[in-house]
Amino acid sequence: MQENLSSIAEFTPSSTSCQEHPSPSEIRPNRHQIVAFVSQKGGVGKTTTATHAREWFSTFGSACLVDADAQRSSSRWIASMSAAKKISIPMTVIGDAHTLLKELPKLREQFDYTIVDAPGSLEDVSRAILSRCDVVVVPYLSGHLDIDSNKKTLEMIEIAQDIRGGMPKAAIFINRAEEGTILLNETKQAVDRDLSNTRIVRLKTIVHKRQCIIDVPGQRTNIFDTAAEIESRRRLQPSPKKKQGKTKLPAEVLARNEYDALFKEIARIMNA
Ligand SMILES: Nc1ncnc2c1ncn2[C@@H]1O[C@H](COP(=O)(O)OP(=O)(O)OP(=O)(O)O)[C@@H](O)[C@H]1O
Ligand SMILES: [Mg+2]
Repeated sequence: MQENLSSIAEFTPSSTSCQEHPSPSEIRPNRHQIVAFVSQKGGVGKTTTATHAREWFSTFGSACLVDADAQRSSSRWIASMSAAKKISIPMTVIGDAHTLLKELPKLREQFDYTIVDAPGSLEDVSRAILSRCDVVVVPYLSGHLDIDSNKKTLEMIEIAQDIRGGMPKAAIFINRAEEGTILLNETKQAVDRDLSNTRIVRLKTIVHKRQCIIDVPGQRTNIFDTAAEIESRRRLQPSPKKKQGKTKLPAEVLARNEYDALFKEIARIMNA
């Protein structure tokens, strides 16, 4: 079932283009591409990363989020941000494989960037997304290596690549990692083992586990806006006594920087 697509008609590229963000980027992602966040494993960060990706890509042009998950987490989050910011954020809900196959190419034409949040189950929906997207990104949870569900996701991607002559381009990143742990190194090694002999790459950026990432949906905002607010507050009220040496950056700024680096890597893949 597709919902909300009618409301998308009002989101012409001119009305949605280039929202402001503090993340300067030297890379401009090629337009009219679909980036999908896919994993058969639940709770790995598809919704969180897809919603932030839409925000990041909106710096470069019109960017629409497609919520393909029956839980509707990303569409609800976007609706709450739209209401809080009093702006229309392009978003649609498409929960079935047939409609995704039909509508994704149209959205690719209509928007500069289409970001898809896939469900944690429903194989046919994920297959439909893999049949239509240009880049697929799989979040892997650090330390929670569920080999079977990861393997199934990778197999689905490889089958799609076989059928589509190498497309979609595919990448994995490690999400919710604890800094400097043995677990993180083990995760990297396990991912690299899974990816050997595949056309799927591991992104260098690691997104660390941070409470502020968990908090932003409930606050009807996102890490980019939160980090920007903190930075502007700091500029207005510089701390009177600066300690010598490095000042520790707030978690929101660190998280923003990691997302910025991650999406730049994805943009490089889009442009390759
Ligand atoms: N880097 C992170 N640090 C801390 N928490 C995170 C991070 N990324 C995601 N989370 C949290 O992990 C939980 C699962 O994330 P999310 O809902 O994005 O996963 P999902 O893959 O979309 O799940 P599902 O398969 O159920 O749709 C959420 O509570 C989210 O806030
Ligand atoms: Mg989700």
